[in-house]
Amino acid sequence: MSYEAFSRKYRPKDFSQVIGQEPIVQTLKNAIDLDRVSHAYIFAGSRGIGKTTISRILAKCLNCEKGITSEPCNKCENCLEIEKGSFPDLYEIDAASNRGIDDIRNLRDNIGYAPIKGRYKVYIIDEAHMLTREAFNALLKTLEEPPPRNIFILATTELHKIPDTIKSRCQTFLFKQPNVSQILKLMKEILEKENVPYEEEALKILAEESEGGVRDSASLLDQAVTFGEGKITVESVEKMLGIVPKSIVSDFMKNLEQKNIQELLKTIITLDKEGSDLNIFWKQVLNNIHNQLVEKVLSRKEENIEDLIYIQSIFEKAYSEAKASFNPKNIYTLAVLKLQYVKDLKPLSEVIKMIKSGNIQTASPEQSKTKQTEKKTETKKEETFDLSKAILKAGKEAGGIVASTLKKVKIEEKEDKFIFNADETLAHVINGKLNIIQKYFPKPIEIKTTTQKMEKKSKTKKRDEAVDKILDLFQGKIISYKEE
Ligand SMILES: Nc1ncnc2c1ncn2[C@@H]1O[C@H](COP(=O)(O)OP(=O)(O)O)[C@@H](O)[C@H]1O
Ligand SMILES: [Mg+2]
Ligand SMILES: [Zn+2]
Repeated sequence: MSYEAFSRKYRPKDFSQVIGQEPIVQTLKNAIDLDRVSHAYIFAGSRGIGKTTISRILAKCLNCEKGITSEPCNKCENCLEIEKGSFPDLYEIDAASNRGIDDIRNLRDNIGYAPIKGRYKVYIIDEAHMLTREAFNALLKTLEEPPPRNIFILATTELHKIPDTIKSRCQTFLFKQPNVSQILKLMKEILEKENVPYEEEALKILAEESEGGVRDSASLLDQAVTFGEGKITVESVEKMLGIVPKSIVSDFMKNLEQKNIQELLKTIITLDKEGSDLNIFWKQVLNNIHNQLVEKVLSRKEENIEDLIYIQSIFEKAYSEAKASFNPKNIYTLAVLKLQYVKDLKPLSEVIKMIKSGNIQTASPEQSKTKQTEKKTETKKEETFDLSKAILKAGKEAGGIVASTLKKVKIEEKEDKFIFNADETLAHVINGKLNIIQKYFPKPIEIKTTTQKMEKKSKTKKRDEAVDKILDLFQGKIISYKEE
């Protein structure tokens, strides 16, 4: 016997086997039982979720030799012919193909005739949104004066492209994507009938991968059986899909939570070296973050939620960039590096509270702790102030170019203050970090700018170092300036 793909072999033969479309199935069954079947339907929804399947079942219901029924026998000649696609009163037209256009032309001439063999002529027009204007017009005329015992089903993945004039003459059903557990159940049924052993976890991966497409899930199952040589295991499924083992993803998530940047980078680099598809890995990570977010909101554990949303936005952006890039590794490592900034994030509610109480503190709790301890040590050190050490320490904490800038500044110690002599550029850098630098000096710092370059510079729009950082972080641009 020749091999038949699961998606064909297990196409539902009656309503009871259809998954995920309960309201549609119920409505159609009622319509059949109460003899209120409409002459025109629109079945709208994504690919592979049952539009054609339900259309054929409806054709059987109307033409089964046992009589009009919501439970066709699947044994009589009419049922079997509909199943095989050879029933003379069932027309399946693909509006997207060239042949479809011819078919529609023929259709116009044939529409309205009584059925040859059954009770109803059923026309299934697939990808109906692709019909030409001419064809839509012909169809509209037919729908305006529906011929008796002719039923039209327009299946489409793009409902918005169906003209309103047509829509208003049809009953529209919106098909839903079945959820993971419904797909999982269907997969198990297939495997049990096929006598294929499987690991539950492996099926879950396949079900998630098929993203609500039932046809896709059946095809993946097919592939997985072949790939796994007759059995389905987590290992073979992960290999087949090129996905990274779950344990690596969950370690990555733990490191993410602890902002363990080095470990995160290591993982990315190792996976890349081993030839894993980083985009697939990243998608796994994104799914995990998404699930965590949903879980946290649902369980009202809202700590760290701002962090997670922020991480997600950075990671999503990286994902769409990386997919279009030749070097995803660089984009993903950069995304991880950006996480360093998350350390300083405070929950929004806390910030609002602080603003309300007039107690805005820019440093994070750890920083303010060190501030306090440093104050203590400062008082001790006061008599033995060492300028070069202070410069070194201040440079280290302020980071970036401040360290090198401080070395270029001429510092004078006066009775009651320190004077920093610097040109405008250097002064600007120091000013930006003055609150940090000041911690290391026992007297107030006064910055004296040497006038050179002043005039020219003040005319050009200068930009704060912090602004540059923010622009880089959010990949933004400046849309307007406020003059001081
Ligand atoms: N809701 C569903 N329940 C069970 N199987 C389904 C369902 N939707 C799709 N399938 C499976 O996918 C295959 C293709 O489905 P089909 O009805 O042709 O999708 P489409 O929505 O693209 O017309 C079917 O043969 C069947 O195996
Ligand atoms: Mg179809
Ligand atoms: Zn029958």
